[in-house]
Amino acid sequence: MKKYLVIGNPIDHSLSPKLQNWWLKENNIDATYDKIKLEVHEIKNFIQEIKEQRIAGCNVTVPFKKTVIPFLDKLSREAEQTQSVNTITFDNGDLVGHNTDIAGFDTAIKKLNFSLRGKKVLILGAGGVVPSIIFALKNMHVQEIIISNRTIEKAENLRALFNDLKILEWGNLTDFHMIINATSLGLNNETINLDFSSLGDDKLFYDVIYNPHETHFLKMGKQLGHKIENGKTMFIYQALEAFKLWHKIEPKVNTDTFKLLEND
Ligand code: ATR
Repeated sequence: MKKYLVIGNPIDHSLSPKLQNWWLKENNIDATYDKIKLEVHEIKNFIQEIKEQRIAGCNVTVPFKKTVIPFLDKLSREAEQTQSVNTITFDNGDLVGHNTDIAGFDTAIKKLNFSLRGKKVLILGAGGVVPSIIFALKNMHVQEIIISNRTIEKAENLRALFNDLKILEWGNLTDFHMIINATSLGLNNETINLDFSSLGDDKLFYDVIYNPHETHFLKMGKQLGHKIENGKTMFIYQALEAFKLWHKIEPKVNTDTFKLLEND
């Protein structure tokens, strides 16, 4: 039986097995999908197992989206440009790194009907998923992307990867049409110490976090009358793209899919 895995550290929180196994069953595919916590020194051997096809393929989550790259034979254009891999396939003898977070984010935004063309986007955080979000936003022809991260060096590293990013010192606020929380603040009920009360109307508050489904950041946006969206749709569609790469079948997404991922 084919075996797929998601690797990361920590990995306990990952809902990928639940979703991928559900789709496997629904499509009568004889395979399993599990999660495994790895240490950085274990990555090389793990990837060798895919090369030898003892493991059919994997997803990669934080903090290994960049770590895996030197062990792969090829990268998709998106993975190359973002230096971020979240899906590994084995194609004609080659280990290929893909980035399906970009398509996940893109689909999530399209479903919101919030046009970002010519708009200003402020991103809080500079962690694993941010290069993919920037890539997708650039494809949507936003006017300006501003990054604010506690550790400024990480924002500067992103600026080296992408042209014309602006950097805003952590703790400051600037005008925007969309604000994205890509920090881990909110996973454990933390607040983000910014005052959004004098922003103007009709902003989009987007949180990459989907568990809890409404972080303090999103509650704040909602209270002020703005549109809000959590990261669940992005999560589902990055998984869908990975499933398509491995199994060449497009799985169904409907209300049951969202229900499946509700808090246990
Ligand atoms: P990684 O950084 O390993 O990719 P991540 O979960 O993708 O992990 O990213 C965590 C993000 O949350 C980072 O942008 C981090 O900021 P630093 O780069 O300064 O670490 C941000 N973050 C985590 N805790 C924070 C806090 N207490 N205040 C502000 N930002 C925080």
